[in-house]
Amino acid sequence: MKAVYTLQDLKHASTDPDNIFYREDKPARLAVLGDPIAHSKSPELHQPALDALALNCSYIRVHLTPEEFNEGVSLLQELGFIGCNCTVPHKERALAWTDQPSKFAQQLGVANTIHFADQTCYTTDPAGLESAVNEDLGLDFAGKNVLILGAGGGAGSAVAQHLLRKPLNHLFLYNRTPEKLDDLYQHIINLGDVDLTKLSLYGNDEYPNTQDIDLIINATSLGLREDQPSPFPESLLLSHHHVYDMTYGCKNALAQACEAKGAQYADGLSMLRHQGAEAFKLWFPGTDPLPMMGLK
Ligand code: ATR
Repeated sequence: MKAVYTLQDLKHASTDPDNIFYREDKPARLAVLGDPIAHSKSPELHQPALDALALNCSYIRVHLTPEEFNEGVSLLQELGFIGCNCTVPHKERALAWTDQPSKFAQQLGVANTIHFADQTCYTTDPAGLESAVNEDLGLDFAGKNVLILGAGGGAGSAVAQHLLRKPLNHLFLYNRTPEKLDDLYQHIINLGDVDLTKLSLYGNDEYPNTQDIDLIINATSLGLREDQPSPFPESLLLSHHHVYDMTYGCKNALAQACEAKGAQYADGLSMLRHQGAEAFKLWFPGTDPLPMMGLK
């Protein structure tokens, strides 16, 4: 079995040396699609649960460029796949793949889970985030003041739209490029009962009072590597802050700043597990995969 399959592999599936697409014992029937994709831990997450539940299928990584995405998804469907997860940069493409997306995916403008038999797609990231924040930080959102870093990006805007439907007190939104936040802000300003503020973390005029913030969510792509700067100025970080970082994989600058300031920190591995479990339940209704999933 290869670590990463490509569009060419899907096109020539019948000549695959491992016969991963056609064999009887654990044929490939689920995949994660992205560009890049080699780093994805999704197979390690899903395969143990598939095996424990004797579902007789393999979960593989498929590298598809944006130009290859639609053809790749069609080939997976022809090969008899049950579904797939879509990660960066394909979440908008996953939504556009079908004209019957779930209502929630449609509202958020992104999808991360495709289900072929139902010809539909879903987004399980926000529910995954919510469970992860509960589990890792012991926090529920009711009455809380929450700051989203990177709210103008794909992940951040989905989280913002999800949290607006929760009984928060106040939602603060920050994005390095303010223009990228403006569209989202106009779109959501009248959607919920939650007070909404666009923050500037670095300008003197709007220097925020971070004393009031309970939870900071890092939805930027900063944090995947140790050598990247923190998405949040350390001088604004306080010991009562809870920080949920949607990135994972290294002890990044934000994790180090939280340790220095005594703030409670959790990385995105638990969100990966929870969003994965939600996707798994869509493909295999009635199962409870979380306790059997990998990456514990
Ligand atoms: P998208 O999710 O829209 O595809 P991305 O390039 O993956 O975009 O970036 C996700 C988020 O991380 C964005 O909010 C981005 O901020 P910009 O809108 O200003 O690009 C944020 N981000 C990426 N690199 C960053 C950095 N060096 N500093 C601050 N935020 C950064």
